[in-house]
Amino acid sequence: MRLLVTGGLGFIGSHFVRLILKERPEYGIVNLDAMTYAGNPANCADLETDPRYRFAKGNICDRAAVEEAVGDGVDAIVNFAAETHVDRSILNPEDFIRTDVLGTHVLLEVVRKFTIGRFLQVSTDEVYGDVPSGASAEEDALRPRSPYSASKAGGDLQVLAYWATYQAPVLITRGSNTYGPYQYPEKLIPLFITNLIDDQPVPLYGDGKQERDWLHVEDHARGILEVLERGEIGNIYNIGGGNNRTNLEITQLLIRGLNRSADTHVTHVLDREGHDRRYALDSGKTRRLGWKPRVVFENGLRTTIEWYQANESWWRPLRSGEFKDYFSRQYTHRLVIAQ
Ligand code: DAU
Repeated sequence: MRLLVTGGLGFIGSHFVRLILKERPEYGIVNLDAMTYAGNPANCADLETDPRYRFAKGNICDRAAVEEAVGDGVDAIVNFAAETHVDRSILNPEDFIRTDVLGTHVLLEVVRKFTIGRFLQVSTDEVYGDVPSGASAEEDALRPRSPYSASKAGGDLQVLAYWATYQAPVLITRGSNTYGPYQYPEKLIPLFITNLIDDQPVPLYGDGKQERDWLHVEDHARGILEVLERGEIGNIYNIGGGNNRTNLEITQLLIRGLNRSADTHVTHVLDREGHDRRYALDSGKTRRLGWKPRVVFENGLRTTIEWYQANESWWRPLRSGEFKDYFSRQYTHRLVIAQ
């Protein structure tokens, strides 16, 4: 089984690559990654000596690079390559349209040209938009509300169009908020953990009562593998952790886990523009394939905190340079206005 994984140096992608190499001896992997700010070679450094693993630097928007990575053929492509941070999409939507829509289109064209058994698009629950109550099912309407989620929805619609029009052998997974080791420290959980380790306050948007469904990254990677191996072509599969929590609850757990105080370490800042209040997923269809999350949320959060405490050499370099620039563009005015 030859697999092309795109974006395999990123957070979820690198966990997926590690899972495959550990549990599927019959698989070989080419990891095509553009090495943007979130594509970190350190995420796969321990895999480089494995003869079943090959890295290729390249962008999914570059058809020649994708065709070269496919070489004389692969059995499946799993597309993790994406711009994924909502706040960055609000600052600069163009990168998101390019990678998440155009990049997906390029991959689909390659699937059409070569005989590739399966194309799995890794997507997100954010395409369903705000869900005030209940849980989103795969057939629900798409109501994306941020440039990020709109770009992912655009990618998903291309994928489904290639199935209907060309019978391209596609699958889509839609995952919920993912957390765990190796997550770039711009998203809620790793940003807050690394701030708190450094004794800095955490910037909580608005009233903090927004709700997300949290999924451990290893459970997410397993869900994607399950769908790749057992999913029915042309179908969409939700992968949710089943752990809905408000941001305030997450913040309190992190504050407690790192022995800090809410009085001194939480700053309420200006809310995200167009902020979705709630996401929730019905994952019954994926569970019927045999998958279910294994990590108990509180345990997963504790081991994630411990991982960031033990791996400062991984995240500290990431919080300098480009990150500082982004942090100041994203947060300076929010902090000022909040005061
Ligand atoms: O739902 C799946 C999605 O989850 C993925 O598709 C996205 O790639 C991923 O980034 C994530 O999107 P969110 O916008 O929900 O994640 P984020 O970690 O940025 O924010 C989680 C919640 O925390 C959200 O309600 C905004 C809030 N937040 C976030 C940051 C970074 C804060 O209050 N303060 C912050 O500084």
